[in-house]
Amino acid sequence: MKSRKFLIAGNWKMNKTAAEGVALVRDIIAEVGQQSDVDVVVCPPFTALESVARALEGSAVKLGAQNMSAQPSGAFTGEISAEMLRHHFATHVILGHSERRALFGEADAGINAKVVAANRSLLKPILCIGETLAERDGGRTLEVVRTQLEGGLAGIDAEGATNIVLAYEPVWAIGTGRTASPEQAQEVHGFIRGWLGSRFSKPAAQRIRILYGGSMKPSNAPELLAQEDIDGGLIGGAALEAKSFVDLVRAGQKLS
Ligand code: PGA
Repeated sequence: MKSRKFLIAGNWKMNKTAAEGVALVRDIIAEVGQQSDVDVVVCPPFTALESVARALEGSAVKLGAQNMSAQPSGAFTGEISAEMLRHHFATHVILGHSERRALFGEADAGINAKVVAANRSLLKPILCIGETLAERDGGRTLEVVRTQLEGGLAGIDAEGATNIVLAYEPVWAIGTGRTASPEQAQEVHGFIRGWLGSRFSKPAAQRIRILYGGSMKPSNAPELLAQEDIDGGLIGGAALEAKSFVDLVRAGQKLS
């Protein structure tokens, strides 16, 4: 029995047209659309948000985006604002995903501006942090995670922090089939919770959910989710099919 409610979030990345997304969420909500033991969020590409929002109406499954601009409006070609996401009924937004850091040059200061903007717009940021393989092999995991926390959460107060979800995603485990062991993941999750306790307050740290991400699937989820400081999952590959995603939600239900 966990004190924090599990959150299972699907990061579809650049997959699924609007029609494909609607078909997927119909299958998901047919199975777990009304349960309330586990919070469930799906994060389609921008182009599928509106159709998926409609398909989710009346269910308990929530909608998230995969990125947003820190700017409220204006001459920012190709960008999408927090308010635009809210108008499409998004409640969550993934920020600072490692693919955005590695492939699109995102760094902590810019990610922090997005976190602040999302909080201001009453969207819940899912802030992603995690080390590369070279950083882990170099013994720098906790230092990298601390730097990303300090940068990503700069200027956030305790109340703002409790609006945020963190996702620890070791870069070497994302899409590789290689998962962190439950012990490896718990070590970092425990470190993150300790850091949150000293930066904000112990009660705030106890309320903030810390998801694990990186090749989480139905076969390894029960052990990962059983760890004290793992409060759910940010799921890539296994979120693209209803069966595996539903099974992950069920794994959370079993431990709730
Ligand atoms: P994966 O992706 O589950 O396919 O490893 C997780 C993520 O990138 O959020």
